[in-house]
Amino acid sequence: MPSPAAITRIRDWSTLPTKWSRGLKRRARSIWRNSFEYDAQEFEQLATRFARQCLAVGVLADPSRQHRWIVTLRTLGFHIEADTLAARWQASVTSMAVEQLAELDALHARLQRVLQRVASLFERDEQSLPKCIDAHDARWLAVRNWTRPISSTARIADLGCGSGRFLRALHDECATWRLIGIDLARTMMMNPPPGVAMATGGLLCLPFADESLDAVFSVEALEHALRPRVAVDEMLRVLRPGGRLLIIDKHRGWQARCEHEPWERWFELPEVAGWLAPYAQVERCELLPADGGEVPDELFCLWTAVKHG
Ligand SMILES: C[S@@+](CC[C@H](N)C(=O)[O-])C[C@H]1O[C@@H](n2cnc3c(N)ncnc32)[C@H](O)[C@@H]1O
Repeated sequence: MPSPAAITRIRDWSTLPTKWSRGLKRRARSIWRNSFEYDAQEFEQLATRFARQCLAVGVLADPSRQHRWIVTLRTLGFHIEADTLAARWQASVTSMAVEQLAELDALHARLQRVLQRVASLFERDEQSLPKCIDAHDARWLAVRNWTRPISSTARIADLGCGSGRFLRALHDECATWRLIGIDLARTMMMNPPPGVAMATGGLLCLPFADESLDAVFSVEALEHALRPRVAVDEMLRVLRPGGRLLIIDKHRGWQARCEHEPWERWFELPEVAGWLAPYAQVERCELLPADGGEVPDELFCLWTAVKHG
């Protein structure tokens, strides 16, 4: 087994030697997890510091560096800051103290490490995500029920769609829906289910115009979004007035008892409802019951809402 330091540098877990026992792989994974430097709150602070300092330092005489920072700001959902920096960049070029530059570069590198690490988990785990959803699964029953009022020509996006198992089942329900899956992991995009378009994209910077979708939903992706509140704002941005939204994610009450990635943030019901409420009528805000299958009692929260007209 390689040294712990080497393990923390592993990006693609599919390259682990197949001859390793399950115990060895589990140990390597635990070293990888424990070497993660931030929880979601610390990450938010780091990202906010980066965004603030990007604005504080003025404009660089180094367009490629500045371009990288703008891309990172957008990836992290700092859209106003990215626009401001881009506009300033076009307006004039000033200088910046060497120490400030070094500090920003260091912050940027730390953020990039986190982003790569989150992305690498799903690139690597692509094969392990199930391709279908059980017909009795409480999450699927909630999604199916939520689609009842949605018109047969609606444009519906699954955000953080994984293998697209919910979209596959939705296509079977109504073949005329225009279904789109968005996921961070490029490997997920390789085998889209029939009747489904898929594209790479992040929850904090969705590749859709304002108000361009009739319905959006997201199942177990918000917990990985790093800035979940911003992800919810993005969902509301791309939804048209009167459009429908559904989120299913894990309940914070379970987090300490369950294995999870260090950056994951699980939720309280009122928390996400509070993020939605200024912009949408929250219709359901509840815990999902056990379904006799994969879903234990009250592990998952469900929120549905209709965006204000
Ligand atoms: C637990 S899986 C759930 C997949 C799918 N919703 C399902 O239930 O089958 C989480 C998914 O969210 C995606 N994801 C994580 N962070 C994301 C982000 N910031 N933007 C878009 N997708 C993300 C991952 O690549 C992964 O496919």
